[in-house]
Amino acid sequence: MTQTIPVPHGLPMQRNAGPFDPPREITALREARPVSPMIFPDGHEGWLVTGYDAVRQLMADTRFSSRQDIGVVHVPYETPGMPAPTEPSPPLPGLFVAMDPPDHTRLRRKLIGAFTVKRMKQLEDHIIELTERQLDEMARLPQPVDLVQAFALPVPSLVICELLGVPYEDRANFQANSAQFLVKDQTLEEKMAAFGSMNAYLAELVTHKRTSPGADLLSDLARDDDLSIEELTGIAFLLLLAGHETTANMLALGTFALLEHPEQLAELHADPELVPDAVEELMRYLSVADIFYRYATEDIELGGETIPEGSTVVVSLLAANRDPHRFADPDTLDLHRKARGHLSFGHGIHQCLGQQLARIEMRAGFAGLLRRFPTLRLAVPAEEVQLRTDMNIYGVHELPVTWTASD
Ligand code: HEM
Repeated sequence: MTQTIPVPHGLPMQRNAGPFDPPREITALREARPVSPMIFPDGHEGWLVTGYDAVRQLMADTRFSSRQDIGVVHVPYETPGMPAPTEPSPPLPGLFVAMDPPDHTRLRRKLIGAFTVKRMKQLEDHIIELTERQLDEMARLPQPVDLVQAFALPVPSLVICELLGVPYEDRANFQANSAQFLVKDQTLEEKMAAFGSMNAYLAELVTHKRTSPGADLLSDLARDDDLSIEELTGIAFLLLLAGHETTANMLALGTFALLEHPEQLAELHADPELVPDAVEELMRYLSVADIFYRYATEDIELGGETIPEGSTVVVSLLAANRDPHRFADPDTLDLHRKARGHLSFGHGIHQCLGQQLARIEMRAGFAGLLRRFPTLRLAVPAEEVQLRTDMNIYGVHELPVTWTASD
């Protein structure tokens, strides 16, 4: 049967079945061959994994290396001018998301204490307070308001800045640079320029913290002489980027999805206790961080196929999260579904370090937004909402919204 399935050329990444659904080609491929060969745009052969079981198994298997890229973003074959690597390249210092054990273990261990469920719980009240303050500011703006700029981006940016000890006033620099290297069609030079600018800024910041530490996470790390300035810079870079772009897009795209599913939204209004389950379901349904890359360090059996040593393997978390073999009626947004077990935070040793923080932000964000603006609605037709099909983290570029003045 498998011989009749065409091997995909390039990555079908456009969400062409609607603003929230996986590309049609990906859905068809998952049904036909959940672990499939593929051809990258440069002609190089690789593998594309779309089935839930196979994705989960792959992410738990450290024979699939994370060291397949230059450590900046996971787009080795899509960045114009970037050579196809023939073997894993050395990761940049500190960027442990692109490392394997024991390097990954050494760095991740230094951060685990700062991100425990308990530590995050202690931050919860403060995060709720920040969220409410941002909603107050939004209420004062003339309508229509862009929810991305007024709410979805500021909340996680404020939180991660405070946690790390990065001055929020400097956000123009890091928000613009983060956005820069998440653009898909960008030359290596452009990507490296954005990376260089953010790196220089963060190197100066952590060097200052090493000599005069304050009461924040980067200062705590800077006190540890085992970490070099280059490593501290890389860790700061990873946390700052991962800490605001993903959550911001979940808040904005999640709000769009809720506004497009009024019956689900009404249930959430009626029962605020539903918010934690709603957040998990929105995470599953939207999978804003979709595509990840791995590199096979030996021949590996996966889903009845043999992935040869040296292959680049592309994983679609969105496809896995919409697999009907794992979630009944997967393309329906159902806030009552117990969606835990979704793979939107990854799985295995690289599973998202900030997931508890992200959950707290999203719960506070959606709960606060719906309570404060019960009549919130789109200010433009849904078809006019600008989707981030050009970015590596999916979402909306802008979400113009309005509400009844008495809210
Ligand atoms: C790793 C998603 C929020 C920090 C990951 C991975 C995913 C992910 C899928 C696994 C990457 C891989 O296996 O290669 C998300 C989503 C978020 C979110 C969807 C929001 C809704 C955050 C936040 C932080 C964070 C708020 C804050 C610090 C990290 C770090 C890693 C990571 C440091 C690397 C972990 C490692 O390699 O051991 N995230 N993330 N993330 N995330 Fe998140």
